[in-house]
Amino acid sequence: MYGSDRAGDDAERTAFRKTEKKYKLYYENSKSTKKKKQPKQVDLSEVLDFKSISESFNQNVELPPGVVHVNCGFDRPIFGLENSPGFYFFPGALTLDEQCTWIRESLTNFPQPPNRTNHNVIYGPISNLFVAAKEGKVFIEEETSDNGLDSEPSASVSNGDSHRWKFYEEDIARSRGKACKTVPASVLLRKLRWSTLGLQFDWSNRNYAVSLPNNKIPNALCQLAKRMAEPAMPIGEEFWPEAAIVNYFGSGDTLGGHLDDMEADWSKPIVSMSFGCKAIFLLGGKSRQDEPLAMFLRSGDVVLMAREARECFHGVPRIFTDEENAEITPLELRFSDEDDRCFLDYIRTSRININIRQVF
Ligand code: OGA
Ligand code: MN
Repeated sequence: MYGSDRAGDDAERTAFRKTEKKYKLYYENSKSTKKKKQPKQVDLSEVLDFKSISESFNQNVELPPGVVHVNCGFDRPIFGLENSPGFYFFPGALTLDEQCTWIRESLTNFPQPPNRTNHNVIYGPISNLFVAAKEGKVFIEEETSDNGLDSEPSASVSNGDSHRWKFYEEDIARSRGKACKTVPASVLLRKLRWSTLGLQFDWSNRNYAVSLPNNKIPNALCQLAKRMAEPAMPIGEEFWPEAAIVNYFGSGDTLGGHLDDMEADWSKPIVSMSFGCKAIFLLGGKSRQDEPLAMFLRSGDVVLMAREARECFHGVPRIFTDEENAEITPLELRFSDEDDRCFLDYIRTSRININIRQVF
């Protein structure tokens, strides 16, 4: 699965790695330290843009070479690729309301225990991270002896050893000085990279840890995924969402080329939904030596990978957080209430991807 990106020099030589490097965020070398770092310009002319493909298809039923229209029951067109059977792209599949709902859920409820996140290994389960970040709280590590702080913490966790991490008000963190480890909740939120819903994926053993406690995927998300999966489903069969991985990307974050090969039945699609800042998605072939195709993923787009496409390397080398390229103005307007300030601040420089799988 999320193979280390990375296998050193060898990886540098594959066509997939080369394309990743082409689109990755690099900064211009700037002599002056005062100047804001400028991203290096990237040639985006070869990136497939399904939004404009969809617009011209709606106007004059024209498609670029290699792109096909998939007939299905949706009121808007879905596209496939001649050379990648089992890959489906549904531009603008989700309404703005749906996008807002799943962004909120991804930040507030999805990272809640017993769902696991990338923070588990260091801190143990963390409850209410988003609220703590919103309230400017600070996570403090302390020994589990009686010399604890006298103020009630707002949440507490244990990572299994004698250290406990708890959220405290900022002034308490300051008064503790350098005596203990502290990390602002806002930093932890920024460093949230994934959470898992339903069956929990065990990253160290690269399989689904069926014995770990888990909540079922929320019904509304299940229903949405089932509806979205339809174009890729074998006739007469149903898609049963059992696990989902939520990926969180900040500026400069990438998802290295990988295969999702831990699910038993590859005829079933992975339903992958994008929220927030625009990204570049790479769809390769069965070998890292195959040159991947680059395409934009925008907030509200849904991608399906089924059958042969399940065997294709893919990844996300770039997200765009600058105003011009992020293309999230409609979302920003939806989050313009003062109460939604925290969602707005997050999503302005972030992308969230929810991908939903049937495991067995
Ligand atoms: C994944 C994945 C793609 C994306 O999590 O397995 O391929 O668009 N995500 O973030
Ligand atoms: Mn994947």
